[in-house]
Amino acid sequence: MIGIFDSGVGGMTVAHAVEQLLPDYSLAYYGDIARTPYGPKSPKTIINYSIRNTEFLLDKGAELIIIACNSASSVATETLRKRFDVPIIEVITPAANCAIAKSTNGRIGVIGTRATVKSGIYHKTITTKKPDFEVYQEACPLLVPLVEEGWLNKRETKMILRRYLHPLKNKQIDTLVLGCTHYPLLQGLIQARIGKKVRLIDSSTETALYVKDFLNKNPTIVSKQKRVTHRYYASDKTETAMKVAERIFSRPMELIVS
Ligand code: DGL
Repeated sequence: MIGIFDSGVGGMTVAHAVEQLLPDYSLAYYGDIARTPYGPKSPKTIINYSIRNTEFLLDKGAELIIIACNSASSVATETLRKRFDVPIIEVITPAANCAIAKSTNGRIGVIGTRATVKSGIYHKTITTKKPDFEVYQEACPLLVPLVEEGWLNKRETKMILRRYLHPLKNKQIDTLVLGCTHYPLLQGLIQARIGKKVRLIDSSTETALYVKDFLNKNPTIVSKQKRVTHRYYASDKTETAMKVAERIFSRPMELIVS
């Protein structure tokens, strides 16, 4: 079974992509809705939450963990890899690799939570592979609460996006990494404001493709079941979270509070 966690419903964009690309595998998802958002919290707190989320998923039978959260990926990956004996896959590397492959002018923008931007992880990952690339990062702390609240097409959301994207507009970027798994839900609004010439990189799809490739190369790590199950757990359940979840999957969702 594949275990996937996020601070809330954003990581469901990864889970949805995994369901579609890896239909033979069961998955368990854990959304820490009670403690969302992670982005404004300290690395120590995010690491502690990530350990608990991983333990929960291992308890459910996970044989591989996807950290479907850029904030947790940027500060907790090393600790989780040291502490747990299963493969831990994070969302930064797949998105950074894709941005490197797609950018033609070597100027990449990254938007993410405060935790992700402060960690400098995208800058480090991209420039380690491509020292001549320029990486411009913008923290967008209000976007996660807006998505969790279901404000996906409100005037206020558009205004806030315009303000967050403004500094990136004169940097001549040709690629923008959506460095938060909540942001694919705002993809249309972001594209309209950053301009159609800028290619958006969705860390959710890239991570699912990365996991698919990993499992092709390591076919014994996660067992395939005859009866595939997709279970969605959360530390709390709210009406708005349910609405966003159903929008991501375009089907009625059951969220098991645990
Ligand atoms: N989806 C998480 C991410 O990718 C959001 C983190 C948060 O809760 O702030 O960063």
